[in-house]
Amino acid sequence: MIKQRQNDSKEIREQRVDFLQLLVDAEITDNGAKQENGDTASGEAMGKHTVRRLTTDEIVGQGTLFFIAGYETTASTLTFASYNLAMNPDVQEKAYNEIREMLGNEEPNYDNIGKLKYLDNVISETLRLYPPVIALSRRASENIKIKGVTIYEGQTVFVPTIALQRDPRLFKDPHSFKPERHEETSNPLSFLAFGYGPRNCIGMRLALVEAKIALVHVLRAVKFERRPDTQEVLTFKVSNFLQPEKDIKLKVSPRC
Ligand code: HEM
Repeated sequence: MIKQRQNDSKEIREQRVDFLQLLVDAEITDNGAKQENGDTASGEAMGKHTVRRLTTDEIVGQGTLFFIAGYETTASTLTFASYNLAMNPDVQEKAYNEIREMLGNEEPNYDNIGKLKYLDNVISETLRLYPPVIALSRRASENIKIKGVTIYEGQTVFVPTIALQRDPRLFKDPHSFKPERHEETSNPLSFLAFGYGPRNCIGMRLALVEAKIALVHVLRAVKFERRPDTQEVLTFKVSNFLQPEKDIKLKVSPRC
């Protein structure tokens, strides 16, 4: 697709408004030469400014990251949300009634899903108990001592999101699924499902919109229920991404 985009005429290029086009437009030309807009290639100094351009490998890397970061995480969130709703029928009914009251038969879209505060809390609570990315990592840019522990420049530090989000010092009754707890404001560093700071998740808003719209469509049509073989407590594979060890089995009945 990169090759195809590179061969597009200027007219077609301008009509394309997607993410790949942004990356291809920022690419270094084969000979690292000046681009059409006058920027210089590969981070060369241009007067006072330095323009950083992308190599083809970097474009492929960013594209792959988008698939990994963007699809699996949102799909897992929906899986865990369905499980939580099946295990907590009262929460499912409350979320369903909110959809009926707030949206009626309207199609869910970017503008009207803001009215679904309870569903928003259901998603936050799902991400608290089951953050698809279980830990964050940061590399120290300088030596620093925090509470008696020295972290040296260049060392990588892992922040265990899933452990923090289930810590009883931060969340009362941490293993219970309680969407209401998100009505109260808490320390923003206690909820790290999308990371924190300048390198947090750039797809957060998109992911939340996608998840909400998907749940509105699904909850209007069906009800999730537990089955005799649904696990009471989920167990997970050893991985950086939260993946259930066994398939999550639920009963799905149509709503009349
Ligand atoms: C529920 C869904 C998602 C979750 C839980 C999630 C979680 C995360 C987390 C924890 C990080 C690391 C943040 C940090 O280190 O502070 C991250 C980074 C990232 N996410 Fe997401 N993500 C989700 C959806 C998406 C989507 C839909 C996209 C793109 C369409 C996306 C693109 C990215 C990218 C590109 C980064 C790297 C940002 C950087 O390094 O500057 N994510 N995500």
